[in-house]
Amino acid sequence: MSRTDNVLHLSEEEKAMLAGETGPGVAKAMEIVVALGQIYGATELTSVTSVQVSGVSYKNLGDAGLAFLEEWAAQGAIVRVPTTLNPAGMDLSGWRELGFSEAFARRQQAVIAAYGALGITLTCTCTPYLVGNVPKLGQHIAWAESSAVSYANSVLGARTNREGGPSALAAAIVGRIASYGLHLEENRQATIVIDVRCPIRSEADLGALGYMVGRMVANRVPYLRFHDARPGYDALKTLGAAMAASGAVALYHVEGVTPEARAGNMIRHGAEVIAVDSLLPGYEALDGDMDQIDIVSLGCPHASLEELRTVGEAIDGRRVKAALWITTARGTRDAAEAEGLLARIEATGGRIVADTCMVVAPMAEFAYRTMATNSAKMAFYTPSHSGLAVRFGPLEQCLEAAVTGIWPSRRAG
Ligand code: F3S
Repeated sequence: MSRTDNVLHLSEEEKAMLAGETGPGVAKAMEIVVALGQIYGATELTSVTSVQVSGVSYKNLGDAGLAFLEEWAAQGAIVRVPTTLNPAGMDLSGWRELGFSEAFARRQQAVIAAYGALGITLTCTCTPYLVGNVPKLGQHIAWAESSAVSYANSVLGARTNREGGPSALAAAIVGRIASYGLHLEENRQATIVIDVRCPIRSEADLGALGYMVGRMVANRVPYLRFHDARPGYDALKTLGAAMAASGAVALYHVEGVTPEARAGNMIRHGAEVIAVDSLLPGYEALDGDMDQIDIVSLGCPHASLEELRTVGEAIDGRRVKAALWITTARGTRDAAEAEGLLARIEATGGRIVADTCMVVAPMAEFAYRTMATNSAKMAFYTPSHSGLAVRFGPLEQCLEAAVTGIWPSRRAG
């Protein structure tokens, strides 16, 4: 029997939801969850403990997306599990001061209000796991946002497919998702081993590596073996985001580091092995060639408090010439403010920007044309999503560019 011949069995409660007995908004959500289950050959739905919804920036949603959300909320739909949001198109408090337009802000606020009406916690970040939405090992969740999916599956050991905005929202409303793909034990083993033989010296090196691995493995599950590095949590956040951007990697394992790799053999018999001896192809693909830098973007995925401290120490007492935006979750920003870090960073002329990032913000409203970043994911998406030319390199290089307005000539890798 092929997978699509499978029959999706629903409980009495799920059938009632589908039949509209708990309202049209719930029925619509159940229709989406059931349709996906049928497409992917699931035989049952599974309860989820947490949801992360993408599709929050008005820049991406537009009026049609906003109307869709408002209509769903008007049908009485409300989330039944803890649910957080992806970054919005602007800092929800500091937008005016940062230079976002009134027109954009009004529409963005309407989007946030619609999500609020659906009962969602209005935390707008791609790192919900740093600010309270922290799934546990083995828990089934329904997350959108590829970097967060990668982190939740790989570093936390939770179980989610790469959901889209509507399917994640539907899962939040019914509290269930179809059980297929990475929800099933048998699909979580690696089918390709990446033997990392070159040294890893910075977060940008990990990003370049992640970019290359993503291109090589597409949507397979890679198992990474490092010879001279033991990546910490922030490093894994960077690595996973890059693999999820250039490929569609939703789960990876790192030998001796990630929980499932530590617990048992996660390499499928007969898995292909590929060696990586140089990161140069990654840097060549992501790094541009202009010197003038208008804006430096750090915090992709959204910066942890530890990363903000590192930036604060490195730039303390200096003054930036280019714009410097360090994007983070509002909870992390508030923690930075409480310990005096925000004031220290802002004394340099840099900004800690909450709730958004330069890929989902309407950067065409600003005069910036060139960007420097230490994030491979940001470097990968910015040219196509925000129309800026990008230089890509480690934090020290980015901060030097922020201070001088010029990209320092040495090339990493
Ligand atoms: Fe997050 Fe934006 Fe990067 S959503 S992962 S900061 S592109």
